[in-house]
Amino acid sequence: MRLIVAGGDGFCGWPTALYLSKRGHEVAIIDNLARRKWDDELRSNSLTPIASLEERVERWKELTGRTIRVFLGDLNHYDFLGEVMRQVRPDAFVHFAEQRSAPYSMLDREHAVYTQANNVIGTLNVGYAIREFAPDCHLIKLGTMGEYGTPNIDIEEGYLEIEHNGRKDVLPYPKQPGSFYHLSKVHDSHNLMFMCRIWGIRVTDLNQGVVYGLHTEETQLDPLLVNRFDYDGVFGTALNRFLIQAAIGHDLTVYGSGGQTRGFLNLTDTVRCIEISANHPADRGEFRVFNQFTEEFSVLELAEKVKRVAEREGIPVSIAHLENPRIEKETHYYHAKNTKLQQLGLTPNLLTDEVLLDIFRTAVQHKDRVVKDNVLPGVKWG
Ligand SMILES: NC(=O)c1ccc[n+]([C@@H]2O[C@H](COP(=O)([O-])OP(=O)(O)OC[C@H]3O[C@@H](n4cnc5c(N)ncnc54)[C@H](O)[C@@H]3O)[C@@H](O)[C@H]2O)c1
Repeated sequence: MRLIVAGGDGFCGWPTALYLSKRGHEVAIIDNLARRKWDDELRSNSLTPIASLEERVERWKELTGRTIRVFLGDLNHYDFLGEVMRQVRPDAFVHFAEQRSAPYSMLDREHAVYTQANNVIGTLNVGYAIREFAPDCHLIKLGTMGEYGTPNIDIEEGYLEIEHNGRKDVLPYPKQPGSFYHLSKVHDSHNLMFMCRIWGIRVTDLNQGVVYGLHTEETQLDPLLVNRFDYDGVFGTALNRFLIQAAIGHDLTVYGSGGQTRGFLNLTDTVRCIEISANHPADRGEFRVFNQFTEEFSVLELAEKVKRVAEREGIPVSIAHLENPRIEKETHYYHAKNTKLQQLGLTPNLLTDEVLLDIFRTAVQHKDRVVKDNVLPGVKWG
């Protein structure tokens, strides 16, 4: 297949590009390197030292003989995107290229507007570009489980059968997102569902849970292929952040009581989910939704797991309950369906102590790179 991986310099996109390239697909990356600039803006960094995108793909070519084409540019620039589509003519377009931090989107008005403009306009452009240049191309779009919020009923995969005043219908599942970032994903979903209906394009919306982990088989081949690893209060996701806090002897910063429960998955399953989706495209006109996570944990459960693993390595860890900077329920019902990807062949890699230990050891190895001031949450919702 010819695939575009938009956001291919990022945490999920880079290992996905390598994984698909290794399996013989022709991969082209689009990225505007915005993620590296947000690090500069926040005076933060990846825990792991990461090579430039140019060095990364050169090294990949040396090691495997496989070429990954790189197009540096912004999805918000339609002329640029159109030119890439003309050159690549992709069978599938994997779209990771968004501003993905909830706290970043809640910093202030500017960051909320930027996040929604970047994400919503970028995705609109991708839909238009598919229609104009490659109408049969399958769009695999990364959404988030956070679109659903925490309803007091089971979360279905995208759609809900409803009976109302004696009549029945299958309707999009109600969305109750918790930040301007999560809202941008909901807006994307609506726009894409509409495009499927009016133009007959094919879209798989992957409502992804929180991704943890660092390595895949391919990123471990060479230091120049190492993946980024975010730990700060703005971009670090819960489990990765706790592992680094443990490594530097910082209290694990659980927000409030820690009862917030979410879906999680290993990075190695993220890349596999993309492959599965690409191998089983949505039909023309179909807006298909998969919930892409493998396990559910509360934030406190994760902190307790990290504490246990770190203490086994001889590093004492305390769990601190901080005043919750977010406005969210800390105790709630959470049960989400996630059967569709498994029916198509996903075998989950679960969160074992061995998996935690492997990430923890990497965190310890690079702990001198941690900017300690960035570990605490700095962004409040209210
Ligand atoms: N990491 C997670 O836990 C997680 C969970 C659920 C969903 N997701 C979704 O998965 C996707 C990838 O997440 P990630 O963690 O790899 O993020 P990331 O920030 O590491 O990577 C995103 C990449 O997209 C690029 N990008 C952003 N806007 C762009 C634009 N307008 N044009 C071109 N490139 C642009 C960035 O430079 C970056 O390299 C995002 O859409 C995110 O919302 C991630």
